[in-house]
Amino acid sequence: MKQDSQAITKLILKAARKAREETSNEPEPDLVKLVRWPVECTVGPGLEGAIACESKVGYVNGSKGWLVYRGYDIFDLCAYSTFEEVSYLLINGKLPSSSELAEYKGRLIEYRYLNQTLRLLLGFPLEQMNTMSALRMGTNMMRQEFTHRDERSGQPVFSDIIGSDEDSIPMETAPKGNRRAIYEFRRKNKAMRSRANELFDKASGIEACYHLLSGVATVAAMIARVNRGAMPIDPDPNLSFAANFLYMMNGRRPTPMEERVMDVSLILHADHGMNASTFAAMVVASTLSDVYFSIGSGIAALNGPLHGGANEQVMHTLAAAYESGDPRAWIRKVLEKKNKVPGFGHRVYKAYDPRARVLAPLAKYLVRDNPEVRPLQETAEVLEAEVVAKLGAEKQVFPNVDFYSGLVYRCLGIDSEMFTPVFAVSRVAGWTARVQEYMERNRIFRPRARYTGEFNKQYVTVEER
Ligand SMILES: CC(C)(COP(=O)(O)OP(=O)(O)OC[C@H]1O[C@@H](n2cnc3c(N)ncnc32)[C@H](O)[C@@H]1OP(=O)(O)O)[C@@H](O)C(=O)NCCC(=O)NCCS
Repeated sequence: MKQDSQAITKLILKAARKAREETSNEPEPDLVKLVRWPVECTVGPGLEGAIACESKVGYVNGSKGWLVYRGYDIFDLCAYSTFEEVSYLLINGKLPSSSELAEYKGRLIEYRYLNQTLRLLLGFPLEQMNTMSALRMGTNMMRQEFTHRDERSGQPVFSDIIGSDEDSIPMETAPKGNRRAIYEFRRKNKAMRSRANELFDKASGIEACYHLLSGVATVAAMIARVNRGAMPIDPDPNLSFAANFLYMMNGRRPTPMEERVMDVSLILHADHGMNASTFAAMVVASTLSDVYFSIGSGIAALNGPLHGGANEQVMHTLAAAYESGDPRAWIRKVLEKKNKVPGFGHRVYKAYDPRARVLAPLAKYLVRDNPEVRPLQETAEVLEAEVVAKLGAEKQVFPNVDFYSGLVYRCLGIDSEMFTPVFAVSRVAGWTARVQEYMERNRIFRPRARYTGEFNKQYVTVEER
């Protein structure tokens, strides 16, 4: 088991060496110097090129293929750190001391318990909903549980514990197919939950960020279970963030190797500059709405196939290419028609995405124990070779993070409709970190649109039209 973890570290360090060989070590000074407001920049449609704010959270150097969180190289964080440390780093701006880390982990464990939110969610036919839409709904429900900002009268009353008999759950979501429904809101966790309740008063920004970081994972895991026709299971306070997340989705404790791979994958997806979902989250926060609505908006934006939804699309592409019987000929036809191939290309990276550099060898490593995924992994290698040969040098199109993440998730037992929610769980770290930072010097976002319509039109009543 330890050998597996060491092998994974070796793979990451090898990917790091390759990346460093292919890129220069000099930062681009223009991009890291202090901004003098107002800035002059060239802005394209979709705000391309616009500088919306300053940030110390993370840095993406698209031409060199660098990803940096708070000054630390992504490869180092993947090789030596954990998602708990990295999320603390992103949100708090520094790596935690051992006591800070212990306290932070304890806090995250408490926030895994979302009794009222899960109880509310179970009243909805989640299995009939898009998983991202269910995740967004659950995130907004967490807001009610934590902030009680919109309570209409008096103080909120916390129900101590959810009735542990199945009859107390609205049966619209009757488990499909499984013989024995598992519903484990065990009494022994009551103490844990009432400690979490005490913290509800402290719905300050940072507490709400921690609550979201842990809670969105619990909601996502519950959606995964219900989609499989199983009941949600209680978190395990003895497991790490990554292991517990897998456990709550799959209903079995992961192997140390699975835990490590999940952890690395969470780290890789935690933050990525001013991407569409981060911007969406920040726009909502800038109105002085709150961090729950803000993260809900990030989830909505991440859902699109041009953003986080691409990882699910990739699996359909790989399946279609494999089933054609000749993936090489299949992808050549796609490229001839100038169709976009999911999992390739990036608005910022014009070099190989460092996240794909790590995920590609991880996928290859994992298929040793998951032979059913091997054909798709081999298909991915064929597609990568063809697309890069055709578009790499000419258009700087290389695999992005989504090209290999789906294969990795599949090997970890995660269903494809959960790929984007799993991405979202990790990105809560970056979203909350950047929202917190922006709120220190908040200015409501208000770009302009250029009006190209008409003027001076004469109003005609409906009867005369
Ligand atoms: C991510 C993405 C939206 C970036 O778009 P962009 O920065 O606007 O880049 P463009 O769409 O202008 O692409 C530039 C050129 O590369 C080509 N290209 C970009 N991505 C491509 C892809 N995935 N497959 C094939 N060609 C691609 C475009 O056709 C275009 O060629 P042209 O100059 O002949 O018109 C785009 O690459 C894409 O749609 N990728 C697939 C979806 C995906 O994987 N998204 C996840 C991103 S993490």
